[in-house]
Amino acid sequence: MPAAPRRILVTSALPYANGAIHIGHLVEYIQTDIWVRFQKMRGHAVLYVCGDDAHGTPIMLRAKKEGVEPRAFIARMNQQHQDDFARFGISFDSYYSTDSQQNRQLTALFYQRLHQAGHIVTHDVEQFFDPVENVFLADRFIRGTCPNCKTPDQYGDSCEHCGKHYQPTDLIDPRSAISGAAPVRKKSPHFFLRLEHFRERLQRLFETDFVDAASRNKLLEWFGSELKDWDISRDAPFFGFPIPGEEGKYFYNWFDAPIGYLASLANALGAGVDETLEVWQEPGREIVHFIGKDIPYFHGLFWPAMLEGAGLRTPDHLFIHGFLTVNGEKMSKSRGTFINAETYCRHF
Ligand code: 2FM
Ligand code: ZN
Repeated sequence: MPAAPRRILVTSALPYANGAIHIGHLVEYIQTDIWVRFQKMRGHAVLYVCGDDAHGTPIMLRAKKEGVEPRAFIARMNQQHQDDFARFGISFDSYYSTDSQQNRQLTALFYQRLHQAGHIVTHDVEQFFDPVENVFLADRFIRGTCPNCKTPDQYGDSCEHCGKHYQPTDLIDPRSAISGAAPVRKKSPHFFLRLEHFRERLQRLFETDFVDAASRNKLLEWFGSELKDWDISRDAPFFGFPIPGEEGKYFYNWFDAPIGYLASLANALGAGVDETLEVWQEPGREIVHFIGKDIPYFHGLFWPAMLEGAGLRTPDHLFIHGFLTVNGEKMSKSRGTFINAETYCRHF
């Protein structure tokens, strides 16, 4: 008797809706598409879902700069992204958006379950605030010198040179990347996911073939010290989903982004939230995420914790790929080695 077909849910990381698809992105979508085609040809029942990661400060600011509402801006980006993927023959079963009704419902549901189970705590956070633009500065909007290796002009969340993750307030000589002004510190209460509650469950996950051996060794380093509470909220002004029942508080876009995989699955199935969760939970269904080596932290730690805390199953496997380099270096606009997917297609 032929073996029953496998049921596999496959995702690629959701690209930000603040810029065009470039050939670095394509490394991921093309490899996922090849894997999906291969599994489909073998007769397996595969669903390949993706969509735009449509929330966050960068998107809000880009829309403002262009003088359009964020929702009009992300609708245009979504179409452009779909056109770019179509040019390369990448065929999704659903290409959706984190700014969807299903994602709003699912995000509220995750939060409610995590909150009820005691996994959400609040702390006051002192953050950088741009006194010229009047916005709290997302980590990526602060540049400064790495507190670890002293490399100048690094982002507020991690150093591109030494790879260290840190708080933006740890940066030496911080500057707002929006206005160039020296940011001021301002305090406000934030909501956090208590990751320590998931230590044993996450460690057990790493005993499976969740990731390749090299990535596992790297990721296991996290468990050598306390798993810090993860800040899942942002203050207004912010483009995203408001936290139900909280004034001026929004879900951090990295909270609703992976939930966007489920929203896109709902879209693929044409199903409501409850039925979608049933499909996610189906015994025997395999769930695999294709991601770049810059985001295992989110997919190997935060996302499985969110799922566990919400009473849902964790994915089976992360396929983690490296970056596309040009002449051995990261693609860069300033070095003139940055190529958009659309430009590439036009010339070849
Ligand atoms: O790093 C990125 O480009 C993110 N937009 C990926 C999100 S993946 C998922 F969690 F939504
Ligand atoms: Zn550094």
